[in-house]
Amino acid sequence: MQAWKDYQSQNKDRFLDELMELLRIPSVSADSKYKADVARCAEAVKEHMLKAGCDKAEVCPTAGHPIVYGEKMIDPKLPTVLVYGHYDVQPADPLNLWHSGPFEPVIKDGKIYARGACDDKGQMFMHIKAVETMAKTNTLPCNVKIMIEGEEEVGSANLGKFLEDNKERLKADIVLVSDTSMISMETPSIESGLRGLAYMEVEVVGPNRDLHSGVYGGAVANPATILCQMIASMHDENNHITIPGFYDKVQELSDAERKAINSAPFNLDEYKKELGVQEIWGEKGYTTLERTGIRPTLEVNGIWGGYTGEGAKTVLPSKANAKISMRLVPNQVSQEIADLFEAHFKKIAPSYVTVKVSHHHGGEAVVTPTNSPAYMAAAKAIQTTFGKDPIPTRGGGSIPIVALFERTLGLKTVLLGFGLDNDNIHSPNEKYDVFNYYKGIETIPYFHKYFAETKQ
Ligand code: BES
Ligand code: MN
Ligand code: MN
Repeated sequence: MQAWKDYQSQNKDRFLDELMELLRIPSVSADSKYKADVARCAEAVKEHMLKAGCDKAEVCPTAGHPIVYGEKMIDPKLPTVLVYGHYDVQPADPLNLWHSGPFEPVIKDGKIYARGACDDKGQMFMHIKAVETMAKTNTLPCNVKIMIEGEEEVGSANLGKFLEDNKERLKADIVLVSDTSMISMETPSIESGLRGLAYMEVEVVGPNRDLHSGVYGGAVANPATILCQMIASMHDENNHITIPGFYDKVQELSDAERKAINSAPFNLDEYKKELGVQEIWGEKGYTTLERTGIRPTLEVNGIWGGYTGEGAKTVLPSKANAKISMRLVPNQVSQEIADLFEAHFKKIAPSYVTVKVSHHHGGEAVVTPTNSPAYMAAAKAIQTTFGKDPIPTRGGGSIPIVALFERTLGLKTVLLGFGLDNDNIHSPNEKYDVFNYYKGIETIPYFHKYFAETKQ
């Protein structure tokens, strides 16, 4: 559409400046120190919705961080797209590994470096700019509702209630999300699934206080050693997870489905080189694309205990802790897996320690159909702006609320993400290519156009 092209090229620099401004707000949801910044970011998003042409936009308080909701309704008879994204970001640490300040965005070699550049400020903001493009050129082909939350990175604890309480307001035909990645700009792809999650924390306690490791070491079990042994035992020699019942509900894919997944371009040597590993690792019998897409996993996210400060201290710690998360696949139930983990962890604890297990957030896996009108509208939008058909892939990450869109609102989701796997999301030096940002803004209006056409 020429009108879109013209509007976007005339406003290109401003689109980028506005994103850079948004990236300056440290909207870290996990750390209460940033509560006021998170609130400030919500206000900024609301203002952007209004400026983009939304008739209404509102910062909706929750028991946690606020949700920003805006809409532009042009005709109740037309289809409605509900856009979802998040304005909160992951903590920036370790700070010393950043080449520039995480909240002082810079553009280097065509890439924007900042926390949230890709996940998800850069991607959610494309939607606000896409809506602006359509609204300001009077070409909006459908109704749009935009819901941008501030707690995605901490488990969306309050969004489920918001969906329940706002069923009428959130009525739509499809949910559109840009919070996932593509294979590359040369090989566009659409994620057709997300994994679920069960996130646990454990504590292993030995003696009632830290002990001198010479006076007591060798005679009292060291909780750090015990924790390591327990964790190590949770994978067998084939890297299968040993928790009884863990795989019981796992959906096995047909040979044809596995073949389709493995037909996506993937270069193992480049993969290893890029990550700086000599060899890859994983569950026996599955390829890398399967291991990160359709198989469940168990990872230690953090482990600590005893003395970790400067220099050396001879101590036998009283306790050791770990944060352990499991990625889940269709049919596994997050709560059930958390219960299985807890029972197993308690069972394998030797009698010389006591253990505590607690449950952080979780969420269910989703698979999005690749033959629905909405998916086909997304594929056609990509074909229009990339000149290539997208490849469907199964993503390894999780967006727990997507399962609730289906369960609570009865809505399917299209994952139209423009990130890249090496955008360093959740890591130091997160980046987002300026090219991807503009490509997203260019592509999204076509989704609305093609989706509206399928409904006529
Ligand atoms: N945007 C990511 C999820 C993602 C990343 C999906 C890349 C596909 C490809 C999201 O913000 C995220 O980080 N989710 C968390 C889960 C959440 C409950 C903290 C995750 O996947 O670890
Ligand atoms: Mn995200
Ligand atoms: Mn994230």
